[in-house]
Amino acid sequence: MCGIVGYVGPKSSLEVLLGGLRRLEYRGYDSAGVSIIAPGGQLETRKKAGKLDNLIAEITSHPLPIANIGIGHTRWATHGAPTDGNAHPHLGGPTSKLSLIHNGIIENFSELKAELLALGTKFNSETDSEVAAHLIAREFDKTGDLPTAFANVVQRLHGAFTILVIHEDQPDVVLAARRNAPLVIGLGDGENFLGSDVAAFVEHTKRAISVGQDEIVILRADSIEIRTFDGVPVIPVEFTVDWDASAASKGGWSSFMAKEIADQPQAVADTLMGRLNSDGSVRLSEIDGLSADDILNIDRIIMVACGTASYACDVAKYAIEKYSRIPVQVELSHEFRYRDPIVTKNTLIVAVSQSGETMDTLMATRYAKEQGAKVLAICNTQGATLARESDAVIYTHAGPEVAVASTKALTAQITAGFLLALFLGAGRKQLATDELHGLGRQLLKMPALVTEVINNLDLARQLGKDMANAKSVLFLGRNVGFPIAMEGALKLKELAYIHAEGFAAGELKHGPIALIEEGQPVIVIVPSQRDADSLHPKVISNIQEIRARGAKVIAVAEAGDTEVAQYAEHVIYVPKSQSMFAPILTVIPLQVFALELSTAKGLDVDQPRNLAKSVTVE
Ligand code: F6R
Repeated sequence: MCGIVGYVGPKSSLEVLLGGLRRLEYRGYDSAGVSIIAPGGQLETRKKAGKLDNLIAEITSHPLPIANIGIGHTRWATHGAPTDGNAHPHLGGPTSKLSLIHNGIIENFSELKAELLALGTKFNSETDSEVAAHLIAREFDKTGDLPTAFANVVQRLHGAFTILVIHEDQPDVVLAARRNAPLVIGLGDGENFLGSDVAAFVEHTKRAISVGQDEIVILRADSIEIRTFDGVPVIPVEFTVDWDASAASKGGWSSFMAKEIADQPQAVADTLMGRLNSDGSVRLSEIDGLSADDILNIDRIIMVACGTASYACDVAKYAIEKYSRIPVQVELSHEFRYRDPIVTKNTLIVAVSQSGETMDTLMATRYAKEQGAKVLAICNTQGATLARESDAVIYTHAGPEVAVASTKALTAQITAGFLLALFLGAGRKQLATDELHGLGRQLLKMPALVTEVINNLDLARQLGKDMANAKSVLFLGRNVGFPIAMEGALKLKELAYIHAEGFAAGELKHGPIALIEEGQPVIVIVPSQRDADSLHPKVISNIQEIRARGAKVIAVAEAGDTEVAQYAEHVIYVPKSQSMFAPILTVIPLQVFALELSTAKGLDVDQPRNLAKSVTVE
């Protein structure tokens, strides 16, 4: 979860590190810290509990010298409370000449700590990470060679880690190691960077290398060397980052979340770009690796994801099953991995993740691969571990998502899910050409419809402000509206810290309707009236049932639905669309509602309590 950045080159390392940490702060914000080595000078460290601004205040009152090498860290606490002492970097050795930052969990830290305590090592924190700092410092004192000392120690560590180290006696090199936690190199001209993801350095360079599992990086201003933990040289594969650096800054917006909600027309358009021809036919060159036979042989799709990304899967399931007739199962990655699931070589695993670093999803896909299944990733982050480890990747082109609560990544994931559904529908010959092209043309209209929604959010905003004192809000939906109800509830829980639950509207009468009492706000996603087999009348009945028991209903409905207005206190209208594709529209008022309600409560919408964006522990 933590964010990691490293730099060596001619620029002020402090500026590069703080800029990188600002972009990585979404990964954790329990504490932040930096270490630098000034030319001919000593290692200097500043660290502080709380958000990055606290560290900046600390540096302002205790300035650092100009330096050209350094490492920086923003923490999501695992071992040890979020205090100044537990903040990274951690210093190693009796003379504290080595500085280390770590993302992940060192599972065998207690036995390593016992070994160090027996040797008389003094610890300054309660973290698992500090053991690695002392071990490497001791090993360096023995061997006199920092890369060798580093390699000897990382081989002894169990668990998940990205570790960066600098040492006062070798002031031109940053060492890094990666196992089960993300690490990317940024290649500059006479300077090089390390980051947990490309957002750390996209402002400085778009040339990047994704570091593989159990690899060590020796980073200097004018060279990079990659070796396996066993010392075998690795030939790096460079890629170009297609994120725009300005996309990772707030611009004039009040929050990253507000900006990212507004980015959605572009996120959907960019995800469709080049994948739908103007006649509506689908082109997914990324999965060219799947032959016509492979597609015909798929007997089941299992979609694995967590949180918001799992709701994108829930929506995609409706489309894939309807258009391709392949059975789809959606599984929370952590549940899937540990329940002995049935996976065969004819199972297609579709793993959906914005970050591509969610450990639960990585573990699920690794397990599925071991069983012989093919893995297709839907991922937003180039160079991410999930993308590297999958057989094929459909990138969502939502651009960097910085706010912890996912918004544009979700609409882009749903869009990619629809593309996949049409692609498989065509491959399995379940859709006639006319029908396929018609659906493709409808999908092409979505960016413009998303813009219309974004331009008409006043009511959703006002309701969010007006309901700042609500203690509980329920969300109902049916069919593709059901996952959107779940997502609406998740947004409210994570941003406004109030009780919220999403239900399938038809399920209410089987129990949850007991929750309804006078004044209970319920937001209902109402399906279109226009389809022959529309669930509209059923949802209207569900609304009547809860109104009869005192619920205050807010409906999210399609433009022109006058019937629903008779039964709801408020109706938020979204434009008419192909009803399968409507989730891309109906989710947006719910995002804005949660944002406004949270803001009205005075909470930090970009960095809600207890969370981190990229959950790299299981
Ligand atoms: C909620 C949210 C999370 C993520 C989940 C998966 O707003 O952002 O629920 O969707 O942690 O993250 P990724 O997509 O990076 O795997």
